Amino acid sequence: MKKLTMLLALGATMALMPSVSKATIIGSGHDFSPTGSYGPAKTNGLARFVWGGETNTYNNPCQVCHIPHKAQTYASAKAPLWNHAPSSQASSYITYDSAGSASYKGGSITLGSSIACLSCHDGSVAINQTAGGNGKNATNSLSGAAVYAPTFSIETAKAGTFASGAGPYVGFTDLTQMHPLGVSYTACVSGGDDELQATTYDLLPKMLKGASKTVECASCHDIHRTTGASATVSHSLIVDLEGGALCLECHKK
Ligand code: HEC
Ligand code: HEC
Ligand code: HEC
Ligand code: HEC
Repeated sequence: MKKLTMLLALGATMALMPSVSKATIIGSGHDFSPTGSYGPAKTNGLARFVWGGETNTYNNPCQVCHIPHKAQTYASAKAPLWNHAPSSQASSYITYDSAGSASYKGGSITLGSSIACLSCHDGSVAINQTAGGNGKNATNSLSGAAVYAPTFSIETAKAGTFASGAGPYVGFTDLTQMHPLGVSYTACVSGGDDELQATTYDLLPKMLKGASKTVECASCHDIHRTTGASATVSHSLIVDLEGGALCLECHKK
C-alpha cells in the first residue's frame, strides 16, 4: 500500500514537472510553424509545406532545416540532411583572426555546421528559402515572399556602421570579431593549449562537432530546445552564462 502511495506521488510530481525541461525545438525561437513563437510566421507559418504535385499542405517545423530525402550535400551545408538554402556567402567568410592573436594555439580553421546557422543569420538567404523551393520534394507555400531573420544578422560584421532593422544584410561576412568558430579543439590541445578541459569533460562530447571536434555556433547554442539550459537561460545556451559556466565548460581559467 505504501509502495502504491509512493508511486502515485511520483506520478503526480512528474505530471507537475515544467514542460520547459523537455528539450525540443517546438515553441522555441526556431519554431517557424503557425503555432510557434516566431512572430512573422504566426499568420502563415514558414514551416507550412505543399506536397509535390498536390494541393494539400502540412506543417513540419523540422523541414525548414532538415528533410529526409534529396537533402543538400553535406559538403555544402555542413549540417545533416539540410533542406535550407545554403548561404550565398559561404565561400567569403573571413574567419577568426588567428594571426592577430598572440596566444592562439589552434591550427587551420574550417567552418563546420556554423555555415548552416549562418544560412539564416548572415542575412543573405531568407528563412523560407528551402531546397524544396528549387523544385525538390515539397515546396514552401510562402516561397514567393522572402522572409529574412530580423535583427539577428549581427553575428557577422562589416566595416562601417551596422544599421539595425529588417534584413537582409548581404555582405556581412566578417567573423573575426567573434569567438573562434571552425577551430579544432583537439588541435588546440595538441598545439600546446594546456588550459582547455579534457574532451571528455562534462558536456564537451556534445559541444564539440564533427570528426575534428570543432567549436561551432551549436557548441554554445542548442537550438533544438525550448529555452536554454533551464527556463531562465536565454538564447538557447547549452549552459548558463551565470558564473561564467558556459566559458568554463572549455576554458580552465
Ligand atoms: C532552424 C534550423 C533547424 C531546425 C528547425 C531543426 N534543426 Fe536539427 N539541426 C540544425 C543544425 C544547424 C544542426 C547541426 C548543428 C548541431 O549539431 O546542432 C542540426 C542537427 C540536427 C541533428 C544531428 C545532431 C544531433 O544533435 O543529433 C538532428 C538529429 C536534428 N538536427 C534533428 C532535428 C529535428 C528532428 C528537428 C525538428 C523537431 C530539427 N532538427 C529542427 C538546424 C535545425
Ligand atoms: C566549446 C568550447 C568553448 C567554449 C564554450 C568557449 N570557448 Fe573560448 N575558445 C575555445 C577554443 C578551442 C579556443 C581556441 C583556443 C586556443 O587558441 O588554443 C577558444 C578561444 C577563445 C579566446 C581567444 C584565445 C586566443 O588565444 O586567441 C577567448 C578570449 C575565449 N575563447 C573566450 C571565451 C569566452 C569568454 C567564452 C564564454 C562566453 C568561451 N570562450 C567559450 C573553446 C571554447
Ligand atoms: C563561445 C560561445 C558562443 C558561440 C561559439 C556563438 N555564440 Fe551566439 N551567443 C553566445 C552568448 C553567450 C550569447 C548571449 C550573450 C550576448 O548577447 O552576447 C549569444 C548571443 C547570440 C544571439 C543573440 C544576439 C542578440 O543580440 O540578442 C544570436 C542570434 C547568436 N548568438 C547566434 C550565434 C551564431 C549564429 C553563432 C555562430 C555563427 C554563434 N552565436 C556562436 C555565445 C556564443
Ligand atoms: C531557418 C533560418 C534559421 C536558421 C538555420 C538558424 N536560425 Fe537562429 N534564428 C532565426 C530567426 C528568424 C531568429 C529570430 C527568432 C525570433 O525573433 O523569435 C533566430 C534567433 C536566434 C537566436 C536568439 C533567440 C533564441 O531563441 O535563441 C539564437 C541564439 C540563434 N538564432 C542561434 C542560431 C544557431 C546557433 C543556429 C544554428 C545551429 C541557428 N540560429 C540557425 C533563424 C534561423
